[in-house]
Amino acid sequence: MLNKKLKTIASLIDKNDTVLDIGCDHAYLAIYLKQNNLCKDVYASDINSNALKQANKNIKNANLNIIAYLSDGFRNIENEAINTAVISGMGTNTILDILKYAPSHINKFIISSNNNHAYLRKKLYKNKLYIKKEIVILDNNKYYIIMLVTKDYLKENKISLKYGKANNKDYLKFLKTKEKDILAKIPKTKIYTRLKHQKNLKELTKLIEKS
Ligand SMILES: C[S@@+](CC[C@H](N)C(=O)[O-])C[C@H]1O[C@@H](n2cnc3c(N)ncnc32)[C@H](O)[C@@H]1O
Repeated sequence: MLNKKLKTIASLIDKNDTVLDIGCDHAYLAIYLKQNNLCKDVYASDINSNALKQANKNIKNANLNIIAYLSDGFRNIENEAINTAVISGMGTNTILDILKYAPSHINKFIISSNNNHAYLRKKLYKNKLYIKKEIVILDNNKYYIIMLVTKDYLKENKISLKYGKANNKDYLKFLKTKEKDILAKIPKTKIYTRLKHQKNLKELTKLIEKS
């Protein structure tokens, strides 16, 4: 059974997409997409040879024909048919490194980072990659953020880059609690750091009221 995050990612794939799942791990997403005819074609890849071995085993057991590449990001993959890349379950720095080498024919990315979402949004924007849609899901008590990213220009503002555009009230409340906890630990003498977090708290309170 596919987990909630991978199912949400699958929901953002279109029938005529040719997909590359980077960091496929055991190839669950690629297998699901192929078995359910959810895209034109799908490829998988991983940097880790053990993960790839398991991926190939699962593909074989499912009686499917999916090519799985051993590759650091896009490095060993030359396939002009691919238009969509999934990059999920890694940290923001790894995702940004992978994106640096994205071939120009890939114009759709589905990204789910494990950390630093505000930084990721800012960097994507700077690199002319625009978040069309953001979905927040809660699975096993953990929030996951899934971004649908394209090259179609979208204007952003500081607030949407910082907190995203999902407008999920519970997630915003979770961020506010985190901010409160951080603020409580900052010594009274660190005036500027406290001001920064107090500002975050105000912004989050406003967003929660609006959501
Ligand atoms: C936690 S798993 C995520 C699996 C699945 N994509 C998900 O979101 O649930 C992360 C996978 O990314 C792979 N990975 C990490 N850095 C990578 C890179 N630079 N290129 C390709 N795969 C990478 C790891 O080997 C691992 O299998």
